[in-house]
Amino acid sequence: KRIAIFASGSGSNAENIAGYFENSSKARVEAFYTNNPKAIVIQRAKRLNIPLVLFDREMFYAGDAVLRDLRIRKTDLIVLAGFLWLVPGNLTRAFSGRIVNIHPALLPKFGGKGMYGMAVHEAVIEAGEKESGITIHLIDEVYDRGKILLQVKCPVLPGDTPEALAERVHQLEYEYYPKAIEQLLG
Ligand code: GRF
Repeated sequence: KRIAIFASGSGSNAENIAGYFENSSKARVEAFYTNNPKAIVIQRAKRLNIPLVLFDREMFYAGDAVLRDLRIRKTDLIVLAGFLWLVPGNLTRAFSGRIVNIHPALLPKFGGKGMYGMAVHEAVIEAGEKESGITIHLIDEVYDRGKILLQVKCPVLPGDTPEALAERVHQLEYEYYPKAIEQLLG
């Protein structure tokens, strides 16, 4: 099975997933895709010898050409890992049930446009939540909606900084996202 991973920033989840499937006979990560020419995920692709597809808004929202331009026609599963753009309807329709995302909070709370990176953890702490965690979900054309596949919780500790909470949540991402992907691939 072919996996395409989309990331807009660091790509630590992308690297973690690629590592998990490195010796797998069931699936392989075909390429990393990014919209951001400055994304660290580009360096990771080079180091891991994984093809990197850089695209801009015109390509990504170019109607059905996106399947050709992004060479994702043969992909079995699109994995979003810190990808910040809304996925256009033609892509969600072409890959219905085959685009998965991870959100670093317990959706439906603390989700939606603009809720990414440290902003999520700041909002969770600000709200006085006692726990946070990850949500792995299929996506549709609305930010952070779509069928929830898995949620895993972690505590929010007194005095937690957003960075401390982010690190605790990242550990859950690294542990659970590859396994959830493997289950999705069947
Ligand atoms: C992760 O926190 C993930 O939950 C969210 O964006 C972040 C991506 O981090 N979607 P990285 O780029 O994988 O390091």
